[in-house]
Amino acid sequence: MPVIACIDDLKRLHKRRTPKMFYDYCDSGSYTEQTYRENTSDFDRIRLRQRVAVDMSDRTTESTMIGETVAMPVALAPVGLTGMQRADGEIKAARAAERFGVPFTLSTMSICSIEDVAKFTTRPFWFQLYVMTDEEFVDNLIERARAAGCSALVLTLDLQILGQRHKDVRNGLSVRMAPTARNLVDLATKWNWGIEMLSTHRRTFRNIVGHARNVNNVSSLIQWSNENFDPKLDWDKVRRIKEKWGGKLILKGILDPEDARRALDVGADAIVVSNHGGRQQDGALSSIRMLPQIVRAVGDQIEVHFDSGIRTGQDVLKALAMGAKGTFIGRAYVHGLGAMGQPGVTKALEVIRKELDVSMALCGRRDVKTLSRDVLYVPADFEGEWSDAPA
Ligand code: GLV
Repeated sequence: MPVIACIDDLKRLHKRRTPKMFYDYCDSGSYTEQTYRENTSDFDRIRLRQRVAVDMSDRTTESTMIGETVAMPVALAPVGLTGMQRADGEIKAARAAERFGVPFTLSTMSICSIEDVAKFTTRPFWFQLYVMTDEEFVDNLIERARAAGCSALVLTLDLQILGQRHKDVRNGLSVRMAPTARNLVDLATKWNWGIEMLSTHRRTFRNIVGHARNVNNVSSLIQWSNENFDPKLDWDKVRRIKEKWGGKLILKGILDPEDARRALDVGADAIVVSNHGGRQQDGALSSIRMLPQIVRAVGDQIEVHFDSGIRTGQDVLKALAMGAKGTFIGRAYVHGLGAMGQPGVTKALEVIRKELDVSMALCGRRDVKTLSRDVLYVPADFEGEWSDAPA
């Protein structure tokens, strides 16, 4: 078992053990990747306050997210194609999350289906929904999530149209899974990955294939997904989906206080401040920079979650201290999965919890629920002084 000290160690192993086209899919942002880079570099600008001679015994990272008890306020974010990072990847990640005591969110664009994950887990997971033009298919997905006992619907609002990730274009992977000749050579060197993949029958988008009209294989899916994300998704449709679902609703992809207010009007249970990990609007401000404004706008009326840029427990601490009630990690756990399968996801969660716990203690706090802005040094210009900032 390799020594893993931090998420970066898992990232290096992930890169070594996984076909380039899938590793690149995970480790990329859209266009120039400015937002992708700033999601992490802006965290580095915030510093922690060191306190001493404070009783550090009996610490807890336990909290709640949308009323569910969590071992730490860190959910696994929805990530497309997770089952191509490692065979049965979504099942493995969901099982690791369940054992650790944090929520797992299954992506619409997953390889393992809602039913697959439900079959291999015992506790409810969350289901992330992309809205498609085919209303019947969307309604059916909602029904399937309900039948599987999912305890929250995470509706993604920032991907009606796909931001281009150059690496995916070069690798021949733009939602379809057709490797280029160079990638075929790379695939041939990833023996263990290939052997594991051959041992599972779950190798296509199983939430979609066989469920959407006229989609029975991956090649028709290419065309289908390009044509079927709903460009007309608006707040009325969000309301319709809320009614149809009837359960806990989390709106993901909110990066503007005005949109946060709209989410509040709709009656969502939580919002996720997110720029999709820098994969959509390149040039958007980092999530951590936008978080304070959004917390000021709606934080006392709706649960605010945070996503995009978390690679350490210190990052989790910073987001919580800035007012988030919960956080999501995507790449950090996918690196664990690609590196070592289910134990790798557990390792990623352990790394993050330990970092969160130790940093919290060194800030002089014993309970993650008590973290507040006064454990941070935030640069005076952190939110930016924009001459043309929207009101
Ligand atoms: C889909 O969610 C993606 O970011 O590729």
